[in-house]
Amino acid sequence: MMNPLIIGDLKVPLPIVQGGMGVGISLSGLASAVAREGGIGVISAACIGMSMEGYERNLRQANREGLRNELRKARSLTKGVLGVNLMVALTDYDDLLKISIEEEADVVFLSAGMPLKLPEFVLDTGFRNIKTKFIPKVSSAKAARIIFQYWQLRFGHIPDAVAVEGPLAGGHLGFSRQELNDKSKTLEQITKEIVEVVKSFETTHHRKIPVIAGGGIYTGADIYRIMRMGVQAVKMGTRFVTTYECDASEAFKMSYINSREEDITIIDSPVGLPGRVIRNDFVDQINKGETKPFTCPWKCLKPCDYEQAPYCIALALLNSARGKMDESFAFAGANAYRATKLQSVKEVFSELLAGYAQEHELQEGLIKARNGPPPVQLPVSLSCSGNAL
Ligand SMILES: Cc1cc2nc3c(=O)[nH]c(=O)nc-3n(C[C@H](O)[C@H](O)[C@H](O)COP(=O)(O)O)c2cc1C
Repeated sequence: MMNPLIIGDLKVPLPIVQGGMGVGISLSGLASAVAREGGIGVISAACIGMSMEGYERNLRQANREGLRNELRKARSLTKGVLGVNLMVALTDYDDLLKISIEEEADVVFLSAGMPLKLPEFVLDTGFRNIKTKFIPKVSSAKAARIIFQYWQLRFGHIPDAVAVEGPLAGGHLGFSRQELNDKSKTLEQITKEIVEVVKSFETTHHRKIPVIAGGGIYTGADIYRIMRMGVQAVKMGTRFVTTYECDASEAFKMSYINSREEDITIIDSPVGLPGRVIRNDFVDQINKGETKPFTCPWKCLKPCDYEQAPYCIALALLNSARGKMDESFAFAGANAYRATKLQSVKEVFSELLAGYAQEHELQEGLIKARNGPPPVQLPVSLSCSGNAL
């Protein structure tokens, strides 16, 4: 029942995108499983080399090798659509973008910062012969407008699609704490505004620019409701964490299953953004102002003031992916507490499709009931049209 997602010449059988989750949460295992079911499976490039031997000595090189390996591994497991999530704030953003393009990732999501600069090796091509589609992730219509206008003006090219991320998402959030408390800043409201922004660029460029919405989408009914607002696909992270195929440790997944609604909370991450996490002792300690001294050999994130940071966010996230939950926390969306068991990605997809179909039927039924019974069809012999009279 769901329409495929079309991004230029790329056809994705189902309009469901798995959000990239770093560090080490969405690698080839989860991404290939989602791609096999017809969605877009996304590998997170953030500090991906931390799962490689010897990353301490040269993280940048480990990241390059790690991303290449994971993309190749995922490709060997599926013919489906695969993407990379690349944080603009990473100091090795250019390197990792180059590898994504060389390895012909179908799409690249550009997140955690405004992708206003593109490396020379991309600009030199004039975007020709690049198979990879570029999709910035934004949390406001203003950001979307700035990116589209800037790209149009400077590069003579606009993004292939845009991903909207609302305030209920997991991980680092593109909202201030004040905005997170503003009840009018909903995914629905932001989506509506972004759909409008995109329309004007569609007209100028004579092509469709799909809008992909995420942040708090958990069920098939959620998908149905948001897609009625003019978006072409959804992006879901939290829902895919509690799958067998997710690349995180068992302990990470269990922290979702054991969480209660009141455990999902916001922290101030050392990179200067709020982040949504599941509360645990580590979170309580850092919220009380405790520090976890570390030395930083890498400087992996541009905005991280590592000399002042109370702890290393990359190490904390690596610890959580590996299951050392007492030295870390789990990034999680507002719906994480709804998980009750581990499932396969296949099961998640069939629940989403069934939930979508059910909501579709329900809403169609409501519309019919509101409009009253359909007009009585006169037998052809009594109608004024046709030759029967
Ligand atoms: C555990 C976790 C880690 C995440 N890591 C990243 C990341 O490294 N970079 C990024 O751009 N988004 C990250 N996200 C956001 C997801 O890509 C996705 O947009 C988001 O999860 C959608 O909201 P949902 O969790 O409510 O489904 C993360 C989300 C989660 C739950």
